Amino acid sequence: MKNNSPIIGLAPMDGITDEAYRLLQTEIAKPDLIFTEFVSAEGISHGGVKLYDTLLFSAKERPIIGQLFGKNPESFYKSAIILSELGFDGVDINMGCPAKTVTQNGSGAALIGKPDLAVEIIQATKKGIDDWFSGKIKVTDLSLNQKSLAVIERNKKYSVFDFVETHHDASLTTKKQTSLPKTKPTISVKTRLGISESIIESWASILLAQDLDFLTIHGRTLKQGYAGSADWSEIQKVVELAKNTKTKIFGNGDIQSKFQGLEFCQKYGVNGVLIGRAACGNPWCFNDYTATPKERFSAMLLHAQFFTEIFPNRRFDSLRKNFLFYASGLSNAKQLRSKLVRLNSIEDLLQLEADFQS
Ligand SMILES: Cc1cc2nc3c(=O)[nH]c(=O)nc-3n(C[C@H](O)[C@H](O)[C@H](O)COP(=O)(O)O)c2cc1C
Repeated sequence: MKNNSPIIGLAPMDGITDEAYRLLQTEIAKPDLIFTEFVSAEGISHGGVKLYDTLLFSAKERPIIGQLFGKNPESFYKSAIILSELGFDGVDINMGCPAKTVTQNGSGAALIGKPDLAVEIIQATKKGIDDWFSGKIKVTDLSLNQKSLAVIERNKKYSVFDFVETHHDASLTTKKQTSLPKTKPTISVKTRLGISESIIESWASILLAQDLDFLTIHGRTLKQGYAGSADWSEIQKVVELAKNTKTKIFGNGDIQSKFQGLEFCQKYGVNGVLIGRAACGNPWCFNDYTATPKERFSAMLLHAQFFTEIFPNRRFDSLRKNFLFYASGLSNAKQLRSKLVRLNSIEDLLQLEADFQS
C-alpha cells in the first residue's frame, strides 16, 4: 500500500466485485487498493469449496484485501490462515453489512452491538495471521478436507499468473508468471457509524484499541442501509480519535470520483477513501475520465471476456445488472436497457456495438 499519499480504493461489493470485475477495473484505472467481495469465514473454513471462487485474484490487482464475514472467532482464526496462504495483502473483517441474511445471524453490522465478540474476532484473526507468518501453523494443519486443500492450491496457482495481454478479439490466455510473496497481511475492519444511531466515538475507540492497520468507516448506520447520505462529520471524529494510533482511517460513502475522494481526504483528514457504487458502469471514476459510448462498449466486452474465461460455468445473465449501469446518462439509455436485460452471451453483446457509437 502507498505510504503517505491518499489511498483511493475500490470498496467491496458482494455480487459485483468478482475477479472479472476487478480485472476490468485494474485494466482501465487501477485503484490504489482493492477488496474482494465478502466471503463467509464459517464457509471457507468448513469445506465451502465453491466460495473460493470469490477469493480468486490476479497479481496485477495488488494490493488486494480479502474480506471475511461471520461470527465465530475460531472460523476467523482458520480463515485468516487460509487468506494468508492464498497470498492476500490483507485480511478485512466485515462489521458493516446491513443485509438481514447476515445481521440476523449475528454477523456484519450486528457486531457493532456485540463489542466483546467483535474484539474476540479481531484477536482471533490477528492470531491466525501471526501464527501463519511465524510458521507456527500451516494451512495443512487446519483439518480441512482434501477438496478444500485442492481448491486452495488452485487459487494460489491462479494468483501467480498475471494476465499480461488483453485483446478484444483474441484469447486472454497470455499470462506471465509472478511469484507469491510471503509477506505479513494487514488486518483491518470495515464498519458503520452505529446500529440505529451513531455511536462512532465509543465504537471506534474499541476498534482502535486493537492496533488495526486500517479502519474503514462507512458514514451511515445499520438502520439507514443505503438511504440518506453518508455523514462525513462523524467519520472525521474517528480521524481525531486515531491521531495517536498507528491505524489509518479510510472514509466511505457517496464518493463519486477520484477527484472528490482526494478533496474529501483533504477536507476530513482521512488517509483514504473507498469508492463503491460510483464505480459501477464507470470504472473511469478512478482516473477522472469521461468515457465515450464506444469506450463503454469496449469495457463491457472486455468484462464479458474476462467473465466467460474465468467463470465458464456461471450464467451470463448475472452480468446484466453490471452492464445496465453502462447505459446511464446516454441519450438512448432507455432503449439500451431494454436490450441489456436480455443479454445471454458475448455474441448478443456484440450485436449492441452500433448502439454504443453515438
Ligand atoms: C451491491 C453492494 C454490495 C456490497 N457488498 C459489500 C461487501 O461485501 N462488503 C462490505 O464491506 N461492504 C459491501 N457493500 C458496501 C460498500 O462497500 C460501501 O460501503 C457502500 O456501498 C457505500 O459506499 P459507496 O457510496 O461508495 O457505494 C456493498 C454495497 C453494495 C451496493
